[in-house]
Amino acid sequence: MPAESVLGLQWGDEGKGKIVDLLAQKADYVVRYHGGNNAGHTVVVGTKKHFFHLIPSGIFHKRTKAIISNGVILDLEVLAREMDILEKEGINLKSKLCISPRCHLILPYHKALDEAFENARGKNKLGTTKRGIGPSYSDKVSYNGLRVYDIIDWNDFIQKFTFQAKIKNKILKTFGVKPVNINSELAKLKKLRSRILPYVKDTFEVINDAAQKRKKLLFEGAHGIMLDLDWSPYPFATGSNTVVGSINTGSGLPINRLTNVVGIVKAFTSRVGGGPLPTELFGRLADAVRERGGEYGTTTGRPRRIGWLDLEAVRFSCRINNVNEIVITKLDILSGLLELKVCTGYTLNGKKIRYSECGYKELSKVKPVYRSFAGWLEDISAVRRFKDLPAECRNYINFIAKFLGVKIKFVSVGAERNANVKL
Ligand code: IMP
Repeated sequence: MPAESVLGLQWGDEGKGKIVDLLAQKADYVVRYHGGNNAGHTVVVGTKKHFFHLIPSGIFHKRTKAIISNGVILDLEVLAREMDILEKEGINLKSKLCISPRCHLILPYHKALDEAFENARGKNKLGTTKRGIGPSYSDKVSYNGLRVYDIIDWNDFIQKFTFQAKIKNKILKTFGVKPVNINSELAKLKKLRSRILPYVKDTFEVINDAAQKRKKLLFEGAHGIMLDLDWSPYPFATGSNTVVGSINTGSGLPINRLTNVVGIVKAFTSRVGGGPLPTELFGRLADAVRERGGEYGTTTGRPRRIGWLDLEAVRFSCRINNVNEIVITKLDILSGLLELKVCTGYTLNGKKIRYSECGYKELSKVKPVYRSFAGWLEDISAVRRFKDLPAECRNYINFIAKFLGVKIKFVSVGAERNANVKL
């Protein structure tokens, strides 16, 4: 597949990192095209676990180059830290990494504002990652953003940064929050600038040349479709569009050049942060799934909320992205449950209602319509062939495929690269 995309079809944390890493084995380029270091992915190579927030997941493969294209917002400190880790692992970044000058920056005042707004919201807080995502994207939209492009001319950057920081400091003052220290932040940024600039290059030409030459491009979606800025139960969203269309705006690849859309569906639901979650579970069952699945945020370490698989939401994700294939992840975590439930639709005041028809108020009141399944007790993490899975487990997978009307590419039953069941 010359241009393939991988998208999380739920609320993020579907296990995309492993799948991107796997598909990247055959890719010439892996592209991150939206979001910032609010995303987090884990890649297990051998016995080592790697956590990344910005660098695309496929970077460990010999042939694969990593592109951070214009739609991504960059916290240079986080990026430099990840680059250091990779170099320590022996990866030659010079030949592998390319960063768009159009990427907007997440600056210290963005993080301070994110935190100040969250604290001020009190019990109505959104549960953001406090990484400065919303404030950085809102500066981009209001023409107040600073980009990687701006750090090239350092004297010009000093002027622009100082102008913005002074205004932001006034706002921070109204929240009663400590202002950012302009001089010391500039000193830090100057160091980061020299670390990053050697990798800065127009990514549009690289991506489109590659597409024209039919090289294999893999677009790594961040977060999840239910967090999309337009299609989430706003304001419980992230600051970027997570739907497939943002590949065009965030990387410059014409969308009709995309040849395959792979959707990642975790076998159950999880979410970090606030907002409605129709199939949410509480108590011992939720705790057990959370512990077994290691369901704690890669970015913030927060315990994730847990729920039954919500196929009403996933069906919406399949439709809006025209998903061609699905990978089901973390099915092994459900072993040992006597009964499983899957949400096949919602009702509100006794009437059927679709995910797309709900704002956050409706979504927090809908009643999920459940279908029950018998569970399985066996540990399935060593199974590699579909026919070797317990019948109940096959039944669960077959139902998902039939309900969504999308082919299942494979099922992941463990964190390791090879822990997959082919169908
Ligand atoms: P922000 O993106 O930090 O502004 O946070 C907005 C919402 O999106 C919060 O509920 C976060 O927990 C959630 N969020 C952002 N990125 C991810 C992700 O990669 N996985 C899961 N949740 C995320």
